[in-house]
Amino acid sequence: MPSPLPPLVHAGDPVLRSAAQPVPADRLATPELRDLVQTMIEVMRAAPGVGLAAPQIGLPLQLIVLEDDERLMARLTPAQRTERERTPFPARAIVNPELTIVGEEERTFFEGCLSVPGYAALVPRAREVEVTGVDIEGLPVKWRVQGWPARILQHEVDHVRGTLYVDRMLTRSFCTSVQVAERWAQSSVDDVRRALGV
Ligand code: CO
Repeated sequence: MPSPLPPLVHAGDPVLRSAAQPVPADRLATPELRDLVQTMIEVMRAAPGVGLAAPQIGLPLQLIVLEDDERLMARLTPAQRTERERTPFPARAIVNPELTIVGEEERTFFEGCLSVPGYAALVPRAREVEVTGVDIEGLPVKWRVQGWPARILQHEVDHVRGTLYVDRMLTRSFCTSVQVAERWAQSSVDDVRRALGV
């Protein structure tokens, strides 16, 4: 029988506020690391979410997984998908990620976190980033990307540095997820900003 998935760690646990440790080279390409990444992917999909960092299951390791899927963007209109630059991509894991912001452009959208359940806020993020690191087999990873995947990467790399989106959010935009879904789902970011005085 498969073992139960580990629970998500929520804001308040110091593991989410600590700098995670690099994954040591001797743990790369091991069954244990492959199993851990598979578990993280299962936790992310079960939530459901588009990214997960190891501290979110209580492990202070520099390890992230991310994936985006048509089902998760089904509520967005085609225009919202376009402005978010949200496109599906297959699950991938990045070990010891290093993130560089590319260019000056920023985008601001609602963002939430599985470790801060029930809430969301507007968060400005760089439109484009480059992430380097290794995969679970130890092979180099280099991913330069724009749009929603770049947002996910910034969010997850923040997690392994002990940073949560609430540290970067426009504080007056802090909303419950229900409010976002019921009140703001069809609105532009400018409308939200005007209405909430952001
Ligand atoms: Co998060």
